[in-house]
Amino acid sequence: MDVTTVLGGDGYASELVAQVRAATEAAAAASRAWMGRGDKNAADRAAVEAMRAVLLDAPFDGTVVIGEGEKDDAPMLANGEKLGAGGLALDIAVDPLDGTRLVAEGLPGSICVIALAPSGTMFVPTNVFYMDKLICGAAGRGVVDIRRSARENVAALAAVLGKGPRELVVVVLDKPRHQELIAELRAAGVEPRLVGEGDISAAVAAASPVGGVDLVLGIGGSPEGIVAACAVGALGGFMQGRLAPQTAGESRDGIGRVLELDDLVASDRVLFVSSAV
Ligand code: FBP
Repeated sequence: MDVTTVLGGDGYASELVAQVRAATEAAAAASRAWMGRGDKNAADRAAVEAMRAVLLDAPFDGTVVIGEGEKDDAPMLANGEKLGAGGLALDIAVDPLDGTRLVAEGLPGSICVIALAPSGTMFVPTNVFYMDKLICGAAGRGVVDIRRSARENVAALAAVLGKGPRELVVVVLDKPRHQELIAELRAAGVEPRLVGEGDISAAVAAASPVGGVDLVLGIGGSPEGIVAACAVGALGGFMQGRLAPQTAGESRDGIGRVLELDDLVASDRVLFVSSAV
């Protein structure tokens, strides 16, 4: 059975929402066939092909602005690809399989995701593949800020949530680049929940009042950041991002700039759909 999450979607026709849902479910079914077979590229390709086939005749005039991307040099669902049979002009963000390694290793936790918003409203990170992110629920608005230290942010959020630092659930991707962040959190009395892959799911959980996650901190993919922003917006949560290049080749204007939710996706009319693999 597919476990699909649909967030937002106000103002979109039910046929459109249903077809986007069919696309994430098709991707999940296709990649499921690759569970535990040690081939993350094949799992990803299967998800891309299945998702694209359903989106090609969806009832919209869509342009992929966050695609399979430059990073992987993917031939399908690439930035700029046109999708749909006509209708509303939309920006489309896809992550056909977030957590490719999890599928290859037969582990749970990966999802197939599509987000959309009116044309021209999604931030396009171009060739900067990584973004520093701070994501939490509505209670964090005016309380936490990505410009402050992790220590200050967890203290402020714990206070407003009426929790001790030890009770705060803070998700961080388990990557070498986060050693300092993890040490800082521990020094502040927070034991971070380290996850190997998948910061879109973590973002959804943090923005949701019932997600069981209080805060997401750290650097993940920029495309995942835009997709997550659509979910966070639909859930009424709080998010800030800041492009964080990890290699010399990643560069563009505005690297140090703090991107508020409105900068990441400048519309309330968002749709986010994810299906668990
Ligand atoms: P993929 O499945 O596309 O590899 O993404 C998984 C993921 O964990 C994302 O959720 C996250 O944003 C990104 O990778 C982080 O990138 P990296 O693994 O290079 O640190």
